Amino acid sequence: MKPVRIGLIGLGAVGSQVARILTEEAESLQARAGIPLRLVKVAVRDTGKKRGFTPDSGLLTTEPFDVVNSPEVDIVVELIGGEDPAFDLAMAAARKRKGFVTANKLLLALRGAEVFSAFEKSGARLGFEAAVAGAIPIIRSIRESFSGDQVELIQGIVNGTGNYILSRMTDEGSRFEDVLKDAQALGYAEADPTLDVEGIDSAHKVAILAALAFETMVDFSDVYTEGITNITPEDIISARELGYRIKLLGVARRVDDTISLRVHPTMLPQKDLMANVDGPFNAIHILSSQAGASTLVGRGAGGGPTATAVLSDIVSMARDIASGAGARMAPLGAPVGGMDKLPVIPIDELESEYYLRFTVPDRPNVLAQIAGALGDNGISIASMIQRERKENQPVSVVLMTHNAVEADMKKSLAHIESSGICLAPTMIIRIAENGRD
Ligand SMILES: NC(=O)c1ccc[n+]([C@@H]2O[C@H](COP(=O)([O-])OP(=O)(O)OC[C@H]3O[C@@H](n4cnc5c(N)ncnc54)[C@H](OP(=O)(O)O)[C@@H]3O)[C@@H](O)[C@H]2O)c1
Repeated sequence: MKPVRIGLIGLGAVGSQVARILTEEAESLQARAGIPLRLVKVAVRDTGKKRGFTPDSGLLTTEPFDVVNSPEVDIVVELIGGEDPAFDLAMAAARKRKGFVTANKLLLALRGAEVFSAFEKSGARLGFEAAVAGAIPIIRSIRESFSGDQVELIQGIVNGTGNYILSRMTDEGSRFEDVLKDAQALGYAEADPTLDVEGIDSAHKVAILAALAFETMVDFSDVYTEGITNITPEDIISARELGYRIKLLGVARRVDDTISLRVHPTMLPQKDLMANVDGPFNAIHILSSQAGASTLVGRGAGGGPTATAVLSDIVSMARDIASGAGARMAPLGAPVGGMDKLPVIPIDELESEYYLRFTVPDRPNVLAQIAGALGDNGISIASMIQRERKENQPVSVVLMTHNAVEADMKKSLAHIESSGICLAPTMIIRIAENGRD
């Protein structure tokens, strides 16, 4: 039987594991796909580099377009990341009607509309299971397993680096900066951790999941994004005292014909399943109208786990080729051409309970000023912690509010800041009750 020929672009953390599995597990992959899979070309930047797994040197090239353009390649696997040249490689594969498998969430979040529509028009297959939450089969779950249901809410811990840092801060009482350094030394965080710790990587995944679940085009700039860099050990201790744990959550919610898209630190009740997903693990909670609540937990990053998701797309495409399946599913399930762009609810309209930490001088009337400014905007206080006083030191005042509208909260905080009593920026964390945002 003529094998399915695979061209790999990128041989880094994920690519080298894909190449290894394709080579070492060739027999079992053939049994599952019903056709042999053969790695025929591999593009890298540096052919001389030492790697965890290096395929036969005769397969290597430094020109990624050689892989897409080669008549020897049936499926292109892009594992270089970034927008350029990944976008052009994807578009070239679509034009040539080749299968294209990618783990590139940045590409699909920023240029998804063009990429999805190019593959839909050409009828070529696009696989992106590895782009969200590594080994957790979330793309297939939403596109296929929930295709008979209406997804209302997706709430996820979708960045392993962020979760690793927050988990260690929670367990050890350590500062963000110290854990980040350690995470970089251990290989859990990149040298430039911005995408992970500022919530941008999570926002990429929220954009992809929302497009898939709500069958809508999403502008990445519509995802409200806050990271974890300002969380302090004090916030973590206060959260614990109040019965919560802090997680960086990505949220995509549909409310009638509007959607809410956001990434921010969130306080989850300590008993909530997601509150206890720690270290580099990811979790995604789906609420749908028929099935109710479902949660998937697993390894969201790392070469091996991500490679399994890449392989799942390769095997699925190879099965189609082996069976001669003609009709191909649109990459997002529903055709992009017929999709509306659902309006996005501005963050100012969000209703939530809030955790607030003020750093203020230790003097009479300060608390009354804070409570007054909140009360003037209809926000009432649910509970309060005031830490032990130290002479001539600022004090932290921690408040939990009842449900409030974000715009009213911002007005109150602006008023409090303008009164000059805040000695440091005020920390604000939204609270999720019962595992819901
Ligand atoms: N690592 C993870 O845990 C993980 C998890 C989920 C998704 N992803 C996604 O998977 C993709 C790959 O990530 P990774 O961690 O494997 O990246 P990586 O370790 O940095 O590897 C990137 C690879 O791409 C090659 N490369 C880069 N630019 C190239 C170019 N212009 N032409 C040819 N080769 C080029 C590099 O070649 P050299 O080796 O010669 O420099 C390297 O082999 C990204 O989209 C990432 O977001 C990664």
